[in-house]
Amino acid sequence: MTHRALLLEGIHADADAVLQAVGVEVVHETGALAESDLDAALDGVHILGVRSKSRLSPALLDRHPDLLAIGCFCIGTDQLDLRDAANRGLAVFNAPFSNTRSVAELTIAEIVALHRRLGDRSRELHEGIWRKSASGAHEVRGRTLGIVGYGHIGSQISVLAEAFGMRVIYHDIVPKLALGNAQPAGSLKSLLAESDVVTLHVPDEPSTRGMIGAAEIAMMKPGAMMINNARGSVVDLEALAAALKDGRLDGAAVDVYPSEPKRNDDPFATPLAGLPNVVLTPHIGGSTEEAQAAIARDAASKLARYLTEGSTRSSVSVPEVDLPTPAPDRHRILHFHRNVPGVLGRMHTLLAEIDANITAEYLQSDPEVSYVILDVESIAVEQIGDRMRSIPETIRMRTLS
Ligand code: NAI
Repeated sequence: MTHRALLLEGIHADADAVLQAVGVEVVHETGALAESDLDAALDGVHILGVRSKSRLSPALLDRHPDLLAIGCFCIGTDQLDLRDAANRGLAVFNAPFSNTRSVAELTIAEIVALHRRLGDRSRELHEGIWRKSASGAHEVRGRTLGIVGYGHIGSQISVLAEAFGMRVIYHDIVPKLALGNAQPAGSLKSLLAESDVVTLHVPDEPSTRGMIGAAEIAMMKPGAMMINNARGSVVDLEALAAALKDGRLDGAAVDVYPSEPKRNDDPFATPLAGLPNVVLTPHIGGSTEEAQAAIARDAASKLARYLTEGSTRSSVSVPEVDLPTPAPDRHRILHFHRNVPGVLGRMHTLLAEIDANITAEYLQSDPEVSYVILDVESIAVEQIGDRMRSIPETIRMRTLS
């Protein structure tokens, strides 16, 4: 059977090759579609790819039970209700780490830009003002960079900053392997006290909301700089603006805000506007063409593996199950069912009744849904499908052979 994919919102064409390599027909739409247009477009579609502007209601999904998987070709997954998707056995994938490098490069650029006051010097020249001076301009070599959150982005910045000759310290709530010569700071407090530049790379979680307020800024070295390219909830911008105005801090770069405009050209205000040596960017940390291509390849690869092997590794909706590619003489059963006792036992009984020998099996559950991949030795595959579907708790099943 040929599978069909509909990719909306101008998803990068690198997705096509990945999907076509596993026999998927790919159709593109440049924009998001209103629900009524999407309804028509989804006829005969098995894979839907969206970015941030699409909305997929439960009613829409009710009308398209042939949809096997959804790719969110971005970081966020608020286009649909993930719990509802799981309860339908609908696998949803995203590409959370494909723009890591882009954020890391922007941050490195900002560390140098703040040390040389590039934003101010550039603006002055645009205004016809020549202000050549070494005062307040510094090399970054030998300075201390404090990275808060040593995950995908933080750890890449660590490597790049050391190549510039910076001393790197970091703070994370999880013990992390220090790369290069970086050192754990011991605590957030000691990182703030020691760093010439503090850069934040933590997720938006209860523990990180408001984690940098007036008290934390007061712990920073006089003349230090602050970069927030993580999430707008992490820093109190009023407190940051106050520290910049009274000269305690010497600069800041901010890419994310507590409230951000929905559309380009919508009005925007921040307490940091107009302050010297402050670089403001409109949430573009991860926005590069390379990141879009990497997102396309990453999300499409996950969709392709789900189609061909049933792997739900790194799905954001259904339980994660992954098994090595089955041997050519095996059939693979992919079965989503309600998470109640006895279903797996019934599957085993039904397979035993037709002398099907199970060669591999892996099940994972969330509180409501279970997903199992079962490999069986050669039997008539059409026999299996009807038997498995006869189990009342079945949500969705496919066979691969
Ligand atoms: P990640 O999940 O790989 O790393 C986050 C790290 O923060 C983890 O090591 C985690 O243990 C640590 N952490 C969590 N809570 C902490 C706490 N209270 N104190 C110290 N460390 C804590 O995430 P990744 O990919 O590195 O992204 C980091 C941030 O960057 C996220 O908030 C993400 O939303 C944001 N981001 C921003 C982009 C932009 O366009 N500006 C683009 C991509 C990501």
